Amino acid sequence: MYKPSEDSFFFAEFLEKYFSRIKKEKIKILDMGSGTGILAETCSKFIPKKNIFCADIQKDSIKILRKKGFRSVQSDLFSNIKGKFNLIIFNAPYLPEDPKEPQDSKIETTGGKRGDEISLNFLKNAFSHLKNKGKIFLLVSSLTPLDRIKKFNFKIIERKKIWFEELLILEFENENRKSKKSLG
Ligand SMILES: C[S@@+](CC[C@H](N)C(=O)[O-])C[C@H]1O[C@@H](n2cnc3c(N)ncnc32)[C@H](O)[C@@H]1O
Repeated sequence: MYKPSEDSFFFAEFLEKYFSRIKKEKIKILDMGSGTGILAETCSKFIPKKNIFCADIQKDSIKILRKKGFRSVQSDLFSNIKGKFNLIIFNAPYLPEDPKEPQDSKIETTGGKRGDEISLNFLKNAFSHLKNKGKIFLLVSSLTPLDRIKKFNFKIIERKKIWFEELLILEFENENRKSKKSLG
């Protein structure tokens, strides 16, 4: 299970700032790849727990998340997710494959051969689970190729340099996507 790290803390800090400046009534959130639930816990400072849904591919994460009182489901991305959300967050495994990395930590850190594959598969289905005017926050890094992710039309809304990489939080909106589609 992923131990909260620099990326988790950066995302959590961003969410604190975000929630302190928006209207929070009736907001329904999906925390994809929830891990130990650090991001869901941050959301729960602002949003009732019953409106926060957690998903992770790893069974042991789901056990912990349920113990913490979160509605949680074991799911490979959206395979077991029903319904629509106002906000979907994902601190994705975003690194390009490193053959030396052990298999059990790969599932938490490696986004695929190039590093963008999990993010792309996530984005392919995420919009159909977004409510009108919904948003997606996806965390990747400067080590993740962005050329294919760009097709989903995002804004970089937060960035932080750590060691040899830069962490990026990308914001995607249903509205932007529609207008881009209609432009062809
Ligand atoms: C970088 S960790 C983030 C964990 C936690 N959200 C945090 O910020 O500390 C990525 C998480 O995504 C989960 N994950 C990896 N592949 C997944 C998939 N296909 N579907 C759902 N979750 C996945 C991993 O098990 C891991 O918990």
